[in-house]
Amino acid sequence: MIVSLVDLMETCQSRLTKFFNFYLQKKISEAPLLQQAMHYAVSNGGKYLRPLLVYATGHIFNASLENLDIPACAVELIHSYSLIHDDLPPMDNAELRRGKPACHKAFTEAMAILAGDALQPLAYEIIARHPSNLNTAQRLAMIDMLAHASGLDGMAAGQALDIMGVDSLPTLEHMYALKTGALFSSSVRLGMLVADIKTHPLLEKFAETVGFAFQIQDDLLDLESNSAITGKPAGLDATNKKVTYPALMGITRAQEKVQALLTQAIYTLEPFEHKADLLRELVYSILQRKK
Ligand code: IPE
Ligand code: IPE
Ligand code: MG
Ligand code: MG
Ligand code: MG
Repeated sequence: MIVSLVDLMETCQSRLTKFFNFYLQKKISEAPLLQQAMHYAVSNGGKYLRPLLVYATGHIFNASLENLDIPACAVELIHSYSLIHDDLPPMDNAELRRGKPACHKAFTEAMAILAGDALQPLAYEIIARHPSNLNTAQRLAMIDMLAHASGLDGMAAGQALDIMGVDSLPTLEHMYALKTGALFSSSVRLGMLVADIKTHPLLEKFAETVGFAFQIQDDLLDLESNSAITGKPAGLDATNKKVTYPALMGITRAQEKVQALLTQAIYTLEPFEHKADLLRELVYSILQRKK
């Protein structure tokens, strides 16, 4: 029984570690270096926020940890692939990720591209076949949801808009909703699907709001913090001439927006009463994040 966010974080860390070790260390692979690059990218100190959203949402509906493990693991694999490709020279050209050399710096660009390529199908393979009590309809719905959220109508589309550049607040917000919001929303929806809940407007609103705040914070950290704290190159958005929320609206308004969005997210959880305590604590921890 998980009673606090600290408890959930430890549980999430140990359960995902088991999955990643099983699929990316213990298995005999055709290409050990590729496998090593994949393992590096999923286990080098990420916050595991999207899996935490899966578990904390499932908790509202008493979903079992064994069933939640599968989408939690899958969404983190997709997120990790997106970061590997995001850091490549033709994208953001970032050499540091989580305080360590980016995947392409540690393993070569070719191997990093392939690690991203192979992490995606692994996510779907785990949903399709990892043993659990999830039924075939639930697994199919999860594959559908995650594919939609990460592809041409989701994260990859957002990354494309980011690369092409945006020039107004509405287009910036749309780009954030795709590149970051889509995976946040799918994390919450995947947690719901484990409990056979297909839609829930309040929880969907919650996820969108947190995703939006999270990306503004990310841009603020890029602007204001340093790489010893964030583990990422500082000031990279300016170097890459990226239009961001703080660049467009100013630091103060960006900070206020984060506060307002996260307050709104907490408010959205009210009807769930104590059942949503883990999600609430997660939002408070996001509010205070330094990396
Ligand atoms: C970084 O995500 C990319 C964004 C969407 C801002 P995280 O800050 O969740 O990255 P890790 O996985 O914890 O390193
Ligand atoms: C989000 O934007 C990246 C993805 C959706 C993969 P950023 O490019 O700002 O993320 P960081 O700052 O590199 O983590
Ligand atoms: Mg980027
Ligand atoms: Mg980046
Ligand atoms: Mg950033």
